[in-house]
Amino acid sequence: MMLQVLRFPNPLLRQKSKPVTTFDDDLQRLAAGMLETMYREGGIGLAAPQVGQLKQLIVVDLHAGDEDQATRSPRFYVNPVIRDRSGETMTNEGCLSVPDFTADVTRAQSIKLEYQSTSGDTVREDLHGLAAVCLQHEIDHLRGKLFIDYLPPLKRQMVKQRLVKQARTA
Ligand code: NI
Repeated sequence: MMLQVLRFPNPLLRQKSKPVTTFDDDLQRLAAGMLETMYREGGIGLAAPQVGQLKQLIVVDLHAGDEDQATRSPRFYVNPVIRDRSGETMTNEGCLSVPDFTADVTRAQSIKLEYQSTSGDTVREDLHGLAAVCLQHEIDHLRGKLFIDYLPPLKRQMVKQRLVKQARTA
């Protein structure tokens, strides 16, 4: 199931997503569709609001870009909450909803994450480096926040105007 990825400045990207309470086939189908869409678009993470579903669901595969599809390792995170964060790391980030733009963002180097599996089991996991950065970026999406919001005000304004213009002519 291919889904359409919403692009900035689509207002749905600014909405808060709701916790998932029903762990049924529809959730599995949405997760599978998001994964397929993420692979097709060449991303390593995708949050449900990016495909217009205001649900607290994230798919991640840090190996999405590998030549060899055998090394792919898809992960699903439902209702994720960051319980603790430590350290700092700067990463050049991009986003499927903000095409053709990257920027350096500083985030926690390590996080303690609590989430549910797509079948509803509670999982606790410590994440570091790129995995931690990716989850922080995706969890921001669940709150209507985008990585360009971290830019200094003047730069942010310039970038947003450019992206709006770009979206109009696309
Ligand atoms: Ni993103």
